[in-house]
Formats: sequence, structure tokens, C-alpha cells
Amino acid sequence: MLRAFFLFLSQSQRLKRWTARSRLAQVAARRFVAGETIEQAIEVIRALNARGIVATLDHLGENTETETQAIAAADEYLVALDHIAQSGVQSHISIKLTQLGLDLGTDFCRQNVARLVGRARDIGSFVRIDMESSAYTERTLQVLRDLRREFDNVGVVIQAYLYRSRADVQALIAEGVPVRLCKGAYKEPADVAFPKKADVDQNMLDLMYLLLSDQARQNGARLAMATHDEKIIRATQAYAEAHQISRDAFEFQMLYGIRPALQQRLADEGYTVRVYVPYGTEWYPYYMRRLAERPANVWFILTNLFKR
Ligand code: FDA
Repeated sequence: MLRAFFLFLSQSQRLKRWTARSRLAQVAARRFVAGETIEQAIEVIRALNARGIVATLDHLGENTETETQAIAAADEYLVALDHIAQSGVQSHISIKLTQLGLDLGTDFCRQNVARLVGRARDIGSFVRIDMESSAYTERTLQVLRDLRREFDNVGVVIQAYLYRSRADVQALIAEGVPVRLCKGAYKEPADVAFPKKADVDQNMLDLMYLLLSDQARQNGARLAMATHDEKIIRATQAYAEAHQISRDAFEFQMLYGIRPALQQRLADEGYTVRVYVPYGTEWYPYYMRRLAERPANVWFILTNLFKR
């Protein structure tokens, strides 16, 4: 119920405009957002690297409406890649195709994204294509496949809440595409996504088993297990151990600001832990999805603001 409410608010343009002006909202968002500038984000990544944690950098933004905006968003990522190369931090980048022009056409979007993937390849980095709402799943996979004809340093995200994801994972394994597996963060109807959390969790486990199979590992369909759910993390560890899969054959990923102690514990145990570090001024929808995942965050934020 509250999840649906926050996901509804995440699309409100009026609230977005208000939060952009509100100092209080900006302070609250800093729990999940590294800062507004690339320099602030690089400092956050440097601190994570110092603790044995790697990163993936996200320049916040989605659903651009003009080609000029989409090209500017890609240019911003080129600047970010330059900062990654010059600072020497260990970080990939994560991108959203609707920020880079998916609503304006798949060909335009692919060409815009190819510039980033090429630059990332030149500096030895990797590009992860985030998965947005189910309205974009098919087009996102199409752009990914077009890019994979030219580049091997690009992978995608699969959401365990979608019914279609098992078939998508099987196809991506056959193609050797690296997959980040997550539960899914958008509001989806019951005819495309499991409405019950228990079913989503079970599907996440089933897809993890597939992505740790011999075939997936041999083909290069490397698993990034993106969750803060300790039950699922423990099940992944247990499955890997039982099947003698080494700790460097897959990685765990979590979001900046969520379960930092758990991130550190896994890194200390020798797992690769990659933290998703968002930065920029367009933090509103990202932030509302984080509140939707855990409405208790609202009280946490209110009490902290009150204490300040
Ligand atoms: P679940 O929601 O069951 O939470 C398990 C526990 O984690 C909670 O009990 C709580 O302790 C903690 N927790 C989870 N969310 C929290 C929050 N917001 N604040 C505080 N604590 C929280 N989604 C998507 O649709 N497309 C994408 O491309 C991505 N990309 C992505 C990258 C990475 C690195 C991560 C970690 C996640 C994503 N997601 C995503 C988001 C994902 O789909 C999902 O919404 C969140 O990860 C929350 O689900 P959990 O797996 O953590 O489990």
C-alpha cells in the first residue's frame, strides 16, 4: 500500500519541482545520493575503494524529452568516465536508457550510448544498463543486443519480479551477457509481475541458480547479485559454496547508503562488493523509489531532520 503510494509520488512533477527547491528535501536525499557533482561522487568512491569496495557510478536522470537533453546526458557520462580514468578509482558506470533517449527512438539511443560504451572500453571500464519499468524491457534488451555486436564491456539488469525474466535470463546466458539480478523497483501490474513478495524472492533464488550454472559461468554471463536481503545473500553464499564456485566468480551489489555494515562484512570476507553510487541534481524519482522500498525510511529521515 505505502509502496504503491511512494511509487505514485515518484512520478509527480509537482512534488519533484517542490523538492528541487526545498533545502530540507535535499538534505534528506543525501542519505542515498553521493552529491550533486562528479567531484563529490568520486570522493565517495575513493572512500569506498579504501575500504575494499568497488563502485558503479550513476548520473541521475530519466525520461529525457529532447535529443539535445539526451546528448547532454551522454556528454555528462563522458566527463564522468574521464574523472574515473584520471582519479584511478575502481568504478563502472550504470546508465538508464530513458535518460539517453530511449523514448526518442532505439536507433538514436543506441548511437548515443555507443559513445559511452566505447569510451568505457578505452579506459578498461564496464557499462551496466539499468532496467526501468516493464514498458521498456523489450526495447532495453534490443539496444543491449545491438551494442553487444560491437562491444563486450556492456551488461544489463534483470528484475526477478517479472514473469518474463526466466526466459530472458536463459537467453542472456546463451549469449554470454553479464547480468545484474535485482528484485525490481517499479510499480507493475499483476499481469506482468508477481504481486507477492514471497514469489519475487523465490524467483530471485531460481534465477540466481541459473546464473551460477556451469554454462552461465563458462559463457561469461557473470552474475551481480543486487540485493540487501540477508536471506538471499546467505542463500547465494551457500549455493556457491556447495557447488565449489569461487568467490570471485560473481559479485554482490548494493545501493549507496543502504546496509553499509553488511557491505563491509561481505568485502572483508573476500567477496567482490560493488556499491551503486548515484549523483546529480535529478535525484527525485530515484529517492522516492528508495522510500517505497522501505517506508520506515520516512520516519528515519524525519527524526534525523528533527535532530539537526
Ligand atoms: P528487500 O526490499 O526485500 O529488502 C531487504 C532488506 O534490505 C530490507 O529489510 C532492509 O533492511 C534493506 N533495504 C532494502 N531497501 C532499502 C531501502 N530503500 N532503505 C533501507 N533499507 C533497505 N531495480 C530496478 O528495477 N532496476 C535496476 O536497474 C536496479 N538496479 C539496482 C542496482 C543495485 C546495485 C541494487 C542493490 C538494486 C537495484 N535495483 C534496481 C533496486 C531493486 O530492484 C530493489 O528495489 C532494491 O534493491 C530493494 O530490494 P532488496 O533486494 O534489497 O530486498
